[in-house]
Amino acid sequence: MSIKWHRSETVESVLLDSRTIQNRVREMGTQITRDYSGRIPHLIGILKGACIFHADLVRAIELELSFDFIAIGSYGDKTKSSGEVRLLKDVDESLEGKDVILVDDIIDTGLSLHYLIRNLSARGPASLRTAVLLNKPSRREVDVPVEYIGFDIPDEFVVGYGLDYGQRYRNLPDICVLRLEKSV
Ligand code: IMP
Ligand code: MG
Repeated sequence: MSIKWHRSETVESVLLDSRTIQNRVREMGTQITRDYSGRIPHLIGILKGACIFHADLVRAIELELSFDFIAIGSYGDKTKSSGEVRLLKDVDESLEGKDVILVDDIIDTGLSLHYLIRNLSARGPASLRTAVLLNKPSRREVDVPVEYIGFDIPDEFVVGYGLDYGQRYRNLPDICVLRLEKSV
């Protein structure tokens, strides 16, 4: 006998609307502009989730800057990361002497950023800081320094503004809570 489980999901509610997100991203850009005055920050976006936040954040920074992307994956299921991180695409540029800001969509357990910070800090950057749009503090498993945080959010699974469920929903302009329903 075999039982088939089908999962379906619903976009339940808007947690952060696009206007609220845009305002906060602009504030983060202003703060980075102030903090990096006289320097040329190098913003590394973590693909794919951070791509939209990264694109908005770099345009909110009024400084000369450069950017790059890195892609990582984990062996977890769709809603939980296993903590086992693998590098799918490395950065193109050397980090030697650069003022690097690592940009991610969300910090949950912290395992992905912990891995990347260790990996990138070994490559001789002049400095390395982290900017995340969303922080789920209740789920942290490792202590990770994050200098720029957009919003602290409750332990809900969210999609939109770059964040996905099974590669979908990234194009939603708002950040929404996704309800997962199990049915037989
Ligand atoms: P961490 O390693 O547990 O901190 O996981 C970070 C990664 O898990 C994020 O960059 C996302 O790709 C994914 N993730 C964690 N929480 C969510 C969520 O609520 N929605 C969508 N993706 C999430
Ligand atoms: Mg991600």
